[in-house]
Amino acid sequence: MKKRILVSRQFPDAGISLLKKEDFLLTIWEKQRPMTQNELIEQAKSHDAILCTLTDRIDKHFLEQCSLLEIISQFAVGYDNIDIDMATRLGIPVGFTPDAMSEATADIAFGLMIAVARKMFFLHKTIIKGQWGYFNPTGNLGIELKNKTLGIFGLGRIGVKMAQRCKNAYNMDIIYHNRTRDKDAEKLLNASYVEFDDLLSKSDVLSVHCALTKETKEIFNGTAFKKMKPSAIFINTARGPIHHEKDLAHALQKGDIWGTGLDVTNPEPMQQDNPLLSMENACILPHVGSGTIEARNQMSVLAATNIIQFYKNRQVPHIVNPEVLEHLIPET
Ligand code: DGY
Repeated sequence: MKKRILVSRQFPDAGISLLKKEDFLLTIWEKQRPMTQNELIEQAKSHDAILCTLTDRIDKHFLEQCSLLEIISQFAVGYDNIDIDMATRLGIPVGFTPDAMSEATADIAFGLMIAVARKMFFLHKTIIKGQWGYFNPTGNLGIELKNKTLGIFGLGRIGVKMAQRCKNAYNMDIIYHNRTRDKDAEKLLNASYVEFDDLLSKSDVLSVHCALTKETKEIFNGTAFKKMKPSAIFINTARGPIHHEKDLAHALQKGDIWGTGLDVTNPEPMQQDNPLLSMENACILPHVGSGTIEARNQMSVLAATNIIQFYKNRQVPHIVNPEVLEHLIPET
């Protein structure tokens, strides 16, 4: 029988065309908006595989309802929307798309860092409001990044790319904090491992690149911001719930830190009346880190390939829970 694949959004054709070439029955959600949770469950119930993304909640209830699912293929590197423990218990492999967007996301982190240091978004808004005024020798001053210290929280694929950009452009010193040390990355970047508190107190720019987990949820809160330099810039391009957004706004208002650049907010989408949007030293983007043609095409190819390879030879090239494959009985 043909495998039925649910594609939860309009993903780039680079990957979808690969699925179309196979002998699958594809259901593609054509609307511009994501499915509601009920729609998602109703659709997925009758499918063998789902190609989904970070806005799709693949939780316990979903997995209980969609008992035919044999593989989940996530179009993203982050997978905090999926109950991985439960999928693993049920023997469902979860594919994802690592590395496809590392350059794109590092560009956004790097761009936000410069934009915050020079108050770019705020100054752009002053022109729109007709407030350009005269050249002011002491007004609108930013800060320079040369020879400063970059702290990376979560030195993985994207963190390394951000660190390389900062080193090459500004000769920044690199310090980092991870669950485990990465000696290769230390060599590559001449980076030093530091404890979390030292990362907070020593970074001139602190850039977040870790996964959202129970341990990292709101780890950047009022207590953490108080330990940072008053001149520090906080960048988050990973997941919004890693920072506590009200605490972040207070930290900026009180001068505990100097500025922030966010590509992810807590919650998403950010509400229009969020005080961060009117602050001088805050630059906010609507979760577009992976938003380049190249990255999104590659993500689509990886996500499709995970499904194709699974049905062809029981392999998932990029998998979150590889232990599941060891227990799979080959199809005859
Ligand atoms: C990811 O891949 O996790 C990004 O947040 C969206 O592309």
